[in-house]
Parts: sequence; structure tokens; C-alpha cells
Amino acid sequence: MNISAIADPVRKISTALLVVPFTSASLKKNGAALLADLGFDAGVMEDFKAENGQVALLYGSAGKASAERVALLGLGEGKKIEDYRKAGAMLAAKAIEIKVGSLVVDMTAIKTFAVSAKSSIQALVSAFIEGGILGSYRFDRLKSDKLKKKKDRDDKKKEIAELVLRSDFSQLAALEEGIAAGRITGSCQNMARDLVNLPGNMLQAEDISRAAQDSGARGGYEVRVFGKEEIEALGMGGLLAVNKGSLHPPTFTVMEYNPAGKAARTIALVGKGVTFDSGGISLKPSEGMGEMKSDMAGAAAVIGALEAAALLRLPVRVIGLVPATDNMPSGSALKPGDVITTYSGITVEVGNTDAEGRLILADALTYAKKQYNPDIIIDLATLTGACIVALGYSVAGLFSNSDKLAEDIYDAGQRTGEKVWRMPLWEEYDEMIKSDIADVSNLGARGAGSVTAAKFLEKFTDGHKKWAHIDIAGPSFASGKGGAKVAGGTGFGVRLIVDLLKTWS
Ligand code: BES
Ligand code: MN
Ligand code: ZN
Repeated sequence: MNISAIADPVRKISTALLVVPFTSASLKKNGAALLADLGFDAGVMEDFKAENGQVALLYGSAGKASAERVALLGLGEGKKIEDYRKAGAMLAAKAIEIKVGSLVVDMTAIKTFAVSAKSSIQALVSAFIEGGILGSYRFDRLKSDKLKKKKDRDDKKKEIAELVLRSDFSQLAALEEGIAAGRITGSCQNMARDLVNLPGNMLQAEDISRAAQDSGARGGYEVRVFGKEEIEALGMGGLLAVNKGSLHPPTFTVMEYNPAGKAARTIALVGKGVTFDSGGISLKPSEGMGEMKSDMAGAAAVIGALEAAALLRLPVRVIGLVPATDNMPSGSALKPGDVITTYSGITVEVGNTDAEGRLILADALTYAKKQYNPDIIIDLATLTGACIVALGYSVAGLFSNSDKLAEDIYDAGQRTGEKVWRMPLWEEYDEMIKSDIADVSNLGARGAGSVTAAKFLEKFTDGHKKWAHIDIAGPSFASGKGGAKVAGGTGFGVRLIVDLLKTWS
């Protein structure tokens, strides 16, 4: 998608679709006059209330506009940045539905909008563009169209080729800054969605590492990949244990973005990279098992966040750590009852081979603390079905040993729409992961499954004072059944983390 900004007079713009956004307040105030200026009768407003994401297509202008068609776009109250992201996404969906390949959005009122949202033009435009990019995402690279009739095959004009924002000349620079920022976060999040959507046979651990290397080349940050031998030499017993049943070697990918000037702080991001989770010997039921190709969504979010941080040149040092493998049953696989020694030296009794995420994250958390001793450690993981039971599919579970860090992440969730809700890490839960024969068990007693998983991870943070675990099992993947959302990977976490990194800049 080509995105740009212009300052031409609205009536002179020739385009397939001219879009005029309104907040509910601006509609009341200026709606009639603006419409009259474009040659429409105020009566068309009877159905349009500027509800967030509402798109009204208008026909039959009195020839006063040079655009082929005009659409009104609702921003709702327009008081939250999220209103702009949603409106951008809904507009993109509409444009794809009606197959307009290019559109111009009239941002003449953007300064007024920014004042009423208590925000900057850049931030609103960035969110709007982000929404547009996310809303026009489709994963169709695996469709050959060989089974389609010829006429449908030719009817391919689905993507939006050109998106232009219009403002007065004095706002053009701010518009361009917003576009640049929104394009980065939007496309990095879509890159993460691509990784999540790739099926297990097309994305093994080594492919995740390669994706990180490609991302590093685009973003200009450093990537190192440890192969199986290096992982063995380091003694990462958690990652190796999960990999035992696999035909494909594990990888451990280390990403590092260093800003040009002095870094405000160092933040380590750890992402679970299970390319397919069958459960291993503790095999999952077959229903819905295919969705476990998304068990590397944490890794995808970490790669996306690193690339965005690098492209945005944020003044923080960011380390990304991704342990990757699939989790498969076989004669050589890890078994329930086995005891393994992790990279930290802590021994783990494996009560269930399907609780594999915490085993590979344990090694990565130890590595983060030991090698970098960062100011902040955050891990993102599709860790437990129990977290979905607790919070559903649109909210992530948040666990942290720091109230301040938890608050920062909560606030970022509210700003970005990638919401998190804090859960406890009280010591009462330690009881539930005790092992008779090893230091700790990877399987909790009945109940509080997402908490016991987090308590397990906590043991591998080696007393670090600012650690957070975000369980994204619910919001990382939208199943096809029901809802208007595009099915598949959501890239959850990219926006959230980038927003956090900005606040720590
Ligand atoms: N990857 C799953 C968690 C998951 C479930 C993510 C559903 C997304 C959707 C994880 O590895 C897992 O299997 N967890 C088990 C843990 C249990 C065996 C203690 C679970 O949640 O059932
Ligand atoms: Mn599992
Ligand atoms: Zn898993």
C-alpha cells in the first residue's frame, strides 16, 4: 500500500473514493455545511451518526466534487486514540469489500480532532494508518486460485494500492510523521501475523530464526542464531527436552537493537517459539489441534517489536530472545515423569509434556538475566488454555513482580487496545508446583493453571526485580468461527510493546 499526504483543495481531488471523517461533535457542527460544499443534500445524514467505524457511501453529488464517490467515516466521540485505529481498520475493510483500489481521506479537521482527543496530530494519524494497514491484512499467499473460475481469478483487485491523506499545508509535515510511524508499527504487526499464520510444516525453528535474520536486515539490528550444538554446549536442558521428539533441530535466536545515542535503558523481550504444539507424549485431543501452529505467537510479537523499535529509532536498547522448537511425540520424545536439568541448573519434574512452553522459556529467562542483566524483562507466550478460561479471547493475562511495571503495561494496553489484566503471583500458589523428587514440577495441581505457569517462570528470573509475563494464548489467534475479525494470527503484543518502549524512551 502506497501512503502519502497532499494539500490540494478537497473539491479538486480526483479519486475513486473521497472519505470525510467526522466525530459525533464535528458532524453536528460542520456536517451540513461540508456536505453542501461537496454538492450533497443534508438529508443524507439521516442514517449517518458518525458511530465509530461507520462508513456511509454517498451517491449523486451535484458535480461539485471531483471524486467519483464520497464516503463519510465515523470516528465516534474521537476522544481516544483507539477510535482512530478502529476507524482506519473499518475503512480499509470497506474499501476492500467495495473494491476501490485507491482513496483519499480528508484530514482537514485533524487539528481540531487532536485537541479534543488531548493528543497530537502525529499520534492520531499514526493510529489511523496503523488501523488501515491492519484492517487490510489478508493471508492469501497459500491460495493458488487454481480451483477458481477464470472470471473470478481475474477479479483480483482486492488490495488498497493507494491511500492518500489530505490536509492544509500547515499540517502536512505532522501528517507525514504520523504516516511514517503508523506504517512501521502496522507492517511489523502484519509481519508477525504472517509468521503466526504459516502452518507448522512451513515454519520450523530454523525458519523462525531466518525470519528474525530477515527482520534484522530490514530494521538494521543484530541477530545471532544458536543451533542445536551451541544449545547443547550452553546446557539449555529445557529447550532440548522439548525438542527431543522432533525431527527438526531447535534454535535459540538472540536479537539486539542498539540505538545510535546512549540508551535510556535495556529491555529484554522473550518470546515463546513453539512452531507446533501437539502436546508431545501428553498428546492433545485432535479437535482444534491445528490452531497450535500459533504457539509461536510470542516469538512473532518479539521479532515484530524489535523491528519496529529499530525502524522507529527508539532510544532504548532492546534484546529479543526466542527459543524455538516444535513439540512432538516420538520414540525419542520427552516423557511424563522425566526429570530434566535446565540452563539455570534448576531441575524440573515433567508432570505433563504439554506444559512445554514454560520449559523453553525457563532457559531463555535465565539467559536474559545472566547475559544482559537488563532493567526490564518481559516475556510473551501462548502459555495456557487456563488463561483463556479466565479472560477470554481478547484480553491477555499479565503477571509481574513489580507494581510499577504492571501499571505501565496496563496503561499501554489501554492506549493500544491490546488489553491486559493483572493476575496474582502470591506465594500461596508455590505449593501447587512442588515436586517430590526435583526442584519444581512443570505441572500445577488443579485450578489456577495460568498462575501456576507464571509461578513456574518466576523461578527462572533469579530474583530480577522488574519482570513481567504476558500470557497471550487468547488474543494471539482469532479462530474462524464467528465475528467480523479476520481469522488467524493477530500480531498481539507488537503495538503493546512498541508503545511501552516509547514511554520508556
Ligand atoms: N500452547 C498451549 C497453551 C494454549 C492453549 C495456547 C490453547 C493457545 C490456545 C500450552 O503449551 C499448553 O498446552 N498448556 C497446557 C498446560 C497444562 C498441560 C498444564 C494447557 O493449557 O492445557
Ligand atoms: Mn502445550
Ligand atoms: Zn504450547
